[in-house]
Amino acid sequence: MSAVIDNTSINDTTINSPRGNGRLSIHQRLHEAAVQRAEQDLVRHRRELTQRKDARVLSDGQRLLNFSSNDYLGLSQHPAMVSAMQVAAQNCGVGAGASHMVCGHHAEHTALERTIADWLGYPRALLFGSGYLANLAVAQALLRAGDVCLQDKLNHASLIDGARLAQAQLVRYPHGAASAARRQAEAHPDGALLLATDGVFSMDGDVAPLGELAAVARDHRGLLYVDEAHAIGVLGPQGRGSAAAAGLGPAEAPLLLVTLGKALGGYGAVLVGQAAVIEHIAQTARPYIYTTALPPALAVASLVAVKLARQDNWRRAKLASLIARFRRGALECGLRLLDSGTPIQPLPVGSNTLALQAARDLEARGFLVAAIRPPSVPEGGARLRITLTVSHENQDVDALLDAMEPLAPAWRKHAHSEPVAIEGDARESSVALT
Ligand SMILES: Cc1ncc(COP(=O)(O)O)c(C=O)c1O
Repeated sequence: MSAVIDNTSINDTTINSPRGNGRLSIHQRLHEAAVQRAEQDLVRHRRELTQRKDARVLSDGQRLLNFSSNDYLGLSQHPAMVSAMQVAAQNCGVGAGASHMVCGHHAEHTALERTIADWLGYPRALLFGSGYLANLAVAQALLRAGDVCLQDKLNHASLIDGARLAQAQLVRYPHGAASAARRQAEAHPDGALLLATDGVFSMDGDVAPLGELAAVARDHRGLLYVDEAHAIGVLGPQGRGSAAAAGLGPAEAPLLLVTLGKALGGYGAVLVGQAAVIEHIAQTARPYIYTTALPPALAVASLVAVKLARQDNWRRAKLASLIARFRRGALECGLRLLDSGTPIQPLPVGSNTLALQAARDLEARGFLVAAIRPPSVPEGGARLRITLTVSHENQDVDALLDAMEPLAPAWRKHAHSEPVAIEGDARESSVALT
């Protein structure tokens, strides 16, 4: 494992140099921040994978069963995607050559945009280099200073950053509380309103109350924007995502983000939306205009992914069955999971130190489970984020539960949430079987 920041690069001379003109030295700031990170167990490490085959990885010479990836449908190494990308690279090369608006827009990009728009039943789509860029683009293109961007407290960082960069007023409502969103929309009557939410929350796994949020947006002349990063391929009929699962279409949810790097197993992102909204974003969004287009071969691989995600209902059925098995087993072991019916199954353990220790304990038993700490989650909300994918089998889930069971009493002492009953929870309604 290699630390992202290497403290040894900050030498004593730079740290001790005088503060000329009262100006704060950047080196001094970096040093203080590094010390603070270490004290609070907040240093992040990049794990190097030397091999990966489905849910099995080799890291630091150790074979681990991976319960941390977002490859929910198990598509990222699908032979049809790999060979489609190889053939496309033979034909059209690696790089796109330029940005979309100059000469980097290829027929493969158009084909992917059309296919995703057709899948989701939206008039138009626009391809981006990543979901992060697309979220910046939406806020920057649609909002101005004085506008209001209403967001769930647990929205992904890229949505928050987008509103900040757009210099809009960022107003955050308590997690999942559509009634609070309504009150805040009423309290901020001036300026245009964008109501942005994750469809499935990336660190909690629960689903946004989209029907109610759509009503808030409608009643306040706002535009509802749903980030489907963790829902596409997983929820809704044909894997069309959380908005489709809630029965919303372009009239109620005029703009959606589909990321290509999670259940779709590739890389990049596509906005789908009403034609006028997409056209405005294409014309004005800096994260769209001023960056090189996605490699066309990647777009071809994603075309295969969309086809598989759309047709392979068995993948969603298998996921639903793994999720049910894991939750049932966790309850029997006394593990207090958050109330999630999606492949994201978080186990709160409280402190950062405890979360890191829990991940290490599982690693020693052969399991890769990410410890998630602030600022990815609120202070005190450190957790293990367990994700299930189609590459897992029942025996993998059982093996993880067996490894977790003896550790459960120590985690339980520190966790805040109550055990979650599996009967009647969100599972059936949120992971579509069709
Ligand atoms: C909810 C959500 N939105 C957007 C993104 C960004 O997408 P990408 O990884 O394609 O940049 C992520 C994660 O990466 C996410 O979890």
